[in-house]
Amino acid sequence: MQSLQQQATTRSGVKQEDAFAIDEVNLYQRLGRDPFVKLSTNFYNRVYEDEQQWFQSIFANSPKEEAIQNLYEFFIQRMGGGPPLYSQRKGHPALIGRHAPFAITEQAAVRWLEHMQAAIDSTPEIDPDSRKLMLNFLKHTAYFLVAGKEIMNRRNRAV
Ligand code: HEM
Repeated sequence: MQSLQQQATTRSGVKQEDAFAIDEVNLYQRLGRDPFVKLSTNFYNRVYEDEQQWFQSIFANSPKEEAIQNLYEFFIQRMGGGPPLYSQRKGHPALIGRHAPFAITEQAAVRWLEHMQAAIDSTPEIDPDSRKLMLNFLKHTAYFLVAGKEIMNRRNRAV
């Protein structure tokens, strides 16, 4: 049985070392705080206005401003190597557990990544090298969450 990380690599096409190349540079030092806030805002503006109702409805019970803050604080901490704002406020990110209430299917990962790609493309403060680093991490993590969800679903069916 492949580990979740291996499954994420197989399914996203992003090798583990490329996904975690974010740890070799400090994107927070490089970019500062603002691009992360803009990226998260830009991303969720798209998500909450998605004409694909099935996707938009996954976020129906989440206040948009909170979602924006959750994501940029997480990005600054994990993707940026910046201050641990997310954990100071909410504890360990534990992303598989925190996504447990939601339908994290492959189809949802594809749509999430489409919005994220568009948000990154329209955030000019993020230079091309940083974009690539971010997208590799985000793609890998999206499929990591899908694989984690599938394992949880299988466990729940078994009891
Ligand atoms: C939260 C959906 C992928 C990071 C959420 C929320 C939803 C959601 C509905 C609740 C909004 C909130 O209250 O913050 C999805 C879907 C994904 C996906 C459908 C498709 C695969 C990702 C990825 C990352 C991520 C790839 C990170 C790279 C987060 C974080 C939170 C969050 C940090 C805040 C968690 C909390 O504090 O409760 N996501 N997500 N998500 N998501 Fe995702």
